[in-house]
Amino acid sequence: PGNKLWGGRFSGSTDPIMERLNASISYDQRLSEVDIQGSMAYAKALEKSGILSKTELEKILGGLEKISEEWSKGVFGVIPTDEDIHTANERRLKELIGDVAGKLHTGRSRNDQVVTDLKLFMRNSLSIISRHLLRLIETLVERAAIEIDVILPGYTHLQKAQPIRWSQFLLSHAVALTRDSERLGEVKRRINVLPLGSGALAGNPLGIDRELLCNELDFASISLNSMDAVSERDFVVEFLSAATLLMIHLSKMAEDLIIYSTSEFGFLTLSDAYSSGSSLMPQKKNPDSLELIRSKAGRVFGRLAAILMVLKGLPSTYNKDLQEDKEAVFDVVDTLTWCIFCNTESRINKESMERALSPDMLATDLALYLVRKGMPFRQAHMASGKAVQLAETKGITINNLSLEELQNISPLFGSDVAQVFSVVSSVEQYTAAGGTAKSSVSAQIEQLRELLKRL
Ligand code: ARG
Repeated sequence: PGNKLWGGRFSGSTDPIMERLNASISYDQRLSEVDIQGSMAYAKALEKSGILSKTELEKILGGLEKISEEWSKGVFGVIPTDEDIHTANERRLKELIGDVAGKLHTGRSRNDQVVTDLKLFMRNSLSIISRHLLRLIETLVERAAIEIDVILPGYTHLQKAQPIRWSQFLLSHAVALTRDSERLGEVKRRINVLPLGSGALAGNPLGIDRELLCNELDFASISLNSMDAVSERDFVVEFLSAATLLMIHLSKMAEDLIIYSTSEFGFLTLSDAYSSGSSLMPQKKNPDSLELIRSKAGRVFGRLAAILMVLKGLPSTYNKDLQEDKEAVFDVVDTLTWCIFCNTESRINKESMERALSPDMLATDLALYLVRKGMPFRQAHMASGKAVQLAETKGITINNLSLEELQNISPLFGSDVAQVFSVVSSVEQYTAAGGTAKSSVSAQIEQLRELLKRL
């Protein structure tokens, strides 16, 4: 019990296996900076409430400054009895400034300390992630602007459906990511409530000025209830679920790109920088970066599921189970950062996309032609279906049916039917907001550019 923060009531020593199980220092040292930040604010509040004299405060701040330097230079020496980052920093403070270090923790508990640290860490991480995410959305939007004239098959059920603009596809992913960005902003808003000053569970007995803490640490508001504040990890769950959804979007995009990069599709050429080869088959270029993004979505969801399991059934206030939250958060922060960063830089093959546009994809347009001549859509659908069937039995494509053959199906077909069989006129019909006509794709681009300014 010698070096421990809680050694007083113990006479027996801790089993080494328990030390291992209990210790979080191997990973929570990532909180070193924010832990010091929190301690500095707390020391100032202690001085205000008369627990620390001005000189004691200066001593403590100076010591903390020194520890911060040690961490940033990578020379902080963790020793085996450092259970966690809070223990380690306090132990070092005592080494540096002596017994006055023992005043820092007055009225504070690791329970309000750790949750404050985690919130500070996540706030910083979320800013970085959000910035990268915005850049990814921007890249998609600007590519959509450049590649707006490229038309390719759109798919439902992975079967050729209707011609679309390549930009419509790019923007579909960009739009999903804007929701993720908004969600991360929401999470950040809820993280921004200060728990420090809640003590172990009952609050702070020294009348500590929590407004001062709130201002020092730049939180937006103060937690309402001490018991809730030390135990709630809603913000962790919210972050992990927002992250899961974001990863699911990235994995959907990755899967699309993987399919499009196969030689069967040939729509995309992946850059060498983000692919890898086969140790056996010399010809292979595999979409490993995309596959990893796809798989990391599973990993992130696993972290969310794990934390929900940990939280379920916990009694009120702090329980050591909550120590599990940090590895989940660190892992997901890192995973998100790498996956959003991973710009796969694929090149599109316009010709392959256009070659894949088969005339049967214009069967809907053929039906719409009849609708414009006054036929009810249900009947028109049937008539166009008949044309598809006739072409299929004749072994030709629908655009090669003669006018006479079409007129046998419906007398409404006229010689102007030929203009149906153009993919450009096909996509240009979709002028309603959100559609794939050039005008509505351009409008989407404009709206997204505006939204990006506000995100
Ligand atoms: N390392 C602990 C954690 O991560 C810090 C809080 C410990 N509190 C306690 N009462 N044992 O949650």
